[in-house]
Amino acid sequence: MVLLKSYLTGAKCLECGHEMEFYPGLDCCPICQGVWLDAQYDYEAVAKIWKDGLQGRVNSLWRYIELLPITDMEQIITMGEGQSPLIRASKLQKRLGHPAIFIKDERQSPTISFKDRQAAVAVTAMRAAGIQECVLASTGNAAAAYAAYCARADIKLWIFLTSLVMADKMREAALYGAEVVKVTGTYDQAKKVATDFAARRKIHCDKGAKAVPGKESMKTIAFEIATELARQLPPPSPLKKGGPRGGNFWKAPDWFIQAVSGGIGPLGVLKGFEELYKMGLIDRVPKIGIIQVTGCSPMVQAFKAGKAKAEPVLPETRITVLATGDPGLAYELLYKANQTYGGYMLDATDEEAFAAMRLLAKTEGISVEPATAVAFAGLDKLVEQQIIKPDEIVVINCSGHTFPVEKYIMDEENVLDVRLSRSAVVPHGAPVDGLGEALKRLDEQVTTIVVIDDNPMDSRLIRRLLQAKKPYRVFEANSALEGLEIIRDRLPDLVVSDLTMPEMDGFALLEELKKDPLTAKIPVIVVSAKDLTPEDEKRLEGQTASIWLKGAFSNQDLVKHVVGTLSNTEDDESTPVRPHREREAKEIEPQQTAPSSGPAANPLEVKKVVLVEDNPMDARLISRILQTSRPLVIKQVQVGREAVKVIREEEPDLIVLDLIIPDMSGFQILEELKRDKKLDTIPVIVVTSKELSEAEKQLLTSNRVSSMWQKGNLDREKLIAHVKSQLK
Ligand SMILES: Cc1ncc(COP(=O)(O)O)c(C=O)c1O
Ligand SMILES: [Zn+2]
Repeated sequence: MVLLKSYLTGAKCLECGHEMEFYPGLDCCPICQGVWLDAQYDYEAVAKIWKDGLQGRVNSLWRYIELLPITDMEQIITMGEGQSPLIRASKLQKRLGHPAIFIKDERQSPTISFKDRQAAVAVTAMRAAGIQECVLASTGNAAAAYAAYCARADIKLWIFLTSLVMADKMREAALYGAEVVKVTGTYDQAKKVATDFAARRKIHCDKGAKAVPGKESMKTIAFEIATELARQLPPPSPLKKGGPRGGNFWKAPDWFIQAVSGGIGPLGVLKGFEELYKMGLIDRVPKIGIIQVTGCSPMVQAFKAGKAKAEPVLPETRITVLATGDPGLAYELLYKANQTYGGYMLDATDEEAFAAMRLLAKTEGISVEPATAVAFAGLDKLVEQQIIKPDEIVVINCSGHTFPVEKYIMDEENVLDVRLSRSAVVPHGAPVDGLGEALKRLDEQVTTIVVIDDNPMDSRLIRRLLQAKKPYRVFEANSALEGLEIIRDRLPDLVVSDLTMPEMDGFALLEELKKDPLTAKIPVIVVSAKDLTPEDEKRLEGQTASIWLKGAFSNQDLVKHVVGTLSNTEDDESTPVRPHREREAKEIEPQQTAPSSGPAANPLEVKKVVLVEDNPMDARLISRILQTSRPLVIKQVQVGREAVKVIREEEPDLIVLDLIIPDMSGFQILEELKRDKKLDTIPVIVVTSKELSEAEKQLLTSNRVSSMWQKGNLDREKLIAHVKSQLK
């Protein structure tokens, strides 16, 4: 009995060739930062195990564990994906006059497409890496697949889809609990928005075909085809010594045909066949037939022109699953394979695909989704044009429809919306115009607030007022228990809660929240009609962001305060937000358990920070990080002159400085501060996206900048620790 395990040896960068150790979560090359990585295995060892077939193993893609990049078997998330049937298409064979056509029927997969393989392996790898939240851009099928597997793995998933994707698909993903964001723009833009969103929030972003797990999963299609063909087409004569490679257990087809969008399918399948060939189990690597829809066929256009690189296109097709306009390196890799093993790339129109779909359903009894129908329309052409030779064995990949039942149980409220202006619709490239604005709106839409009040009139009023101000997602609860459930489920950015409620009161709610590390840091604003006794105040001490007495403030003030707390910018025309009981409380806070040596830091003393940052999103992110260190009042300024003025007025305890801001650079601000003795002692930290030269770093250090942080690469924990040390 062989111990089943992965024979993974490492990973190789497809961009610079660097070989590295592989671990779950590795998603770029440490040398060139390239993201196209390939897994490597001990093929010699695996060949010995696989040569006699894999009988008696589990009936899913995990039977090929030796060549999968998962070393911790305990982490595997599975729903029996893989091992799909290989169906002989006898009617299609007859119609095309071709004797050997097989359909790899992926319709029987958990979410009805071959993307379940990718989701199973990628989500397993995420779990093994301890990743709890993931961002994915998808043309549709990967969305449903990842949503289902992430649900099983308790991973929170953010899915970015274009608005052209059928509402049914969006509902399906939402049904599995994923956060669905609809981007009005192209798929390539949705990808960009998703990547930026993930970077900003420091969430893992799935890299699809580029990263190891997704592509590796697709190899299992090749492994299954080879085992199943060997079973269905055994060699004509009894096996002799020196008979066919792979004996009775492995057989390669001559062609693998697939509709292509981003290309992860064919890239993975190709790698699978290459590995079988390398291990001496099959005698050839099949030719890949790549079929694209005419309205989005950058690969086919480049192929026709004999080019090794594809130009991005603006997709114009109703078959949105295939709408990747910019295939990038995927095309270069597939073109190289084409030059090595043969194969072909051609296109079929939407109409040709719909016709093929009807014909296939009527003749073979197989109903497929439009993206798959594109492949069948292409297969017709490949046979007709005799690109596929009469004696060649053909396998075609096939996925199915989503059953649109979610329509009846999910509403559109489950989908968030990002609209890019038309001018921003370019196929690819540098930061798109309007993207920043769109991301900002998205950030507001995903800012989640839970309002808890046992009086539904009050909670509704607060929700309405908040939503009149910004497109926040506000959930109402009319008891603390219900609120607690929503908070645990949604992990909101802020909670607004009443104190006196039946069953469980606000005090108990706060205690519950503080107990759980996941909810302990969520700011809670207390709104209550209760006159607080000194006892109550003690219980609330350090537990709330602020306390508001019902009847003692205007609702507008509360809303302004909420918006201010969330964005750290208070309304321009607003009167200073006043009824913070918190501030009064803190000023009279005696330090009872002060350590005896040295001047004790009062952890409740509110320190002042001036944050000089012109990008509101960055400002918000930095403020949030800073605020986890201790109670702070953060004043944000966006332009240089204003910054100097505010620093003079406020004399803050800390200055957080961006270097590139309108009207004055960070360096100039530091020069300016140096002139004032009083200001020259305030510690400064720099958070910037600017690449700093050694000379610049020295200059900053000599201007008493205590640390410098790169925006794209910010270590949250270290920054918090540093801020704490500066604010003692
Ligand atoms: C049925 C079907 N065919 C083809 C594709 C394109 O796949 P790829 O992204 O591998 O090019 C997809 C993508 O979701 C699909 O669902
Ligand atoms: Zn590299």
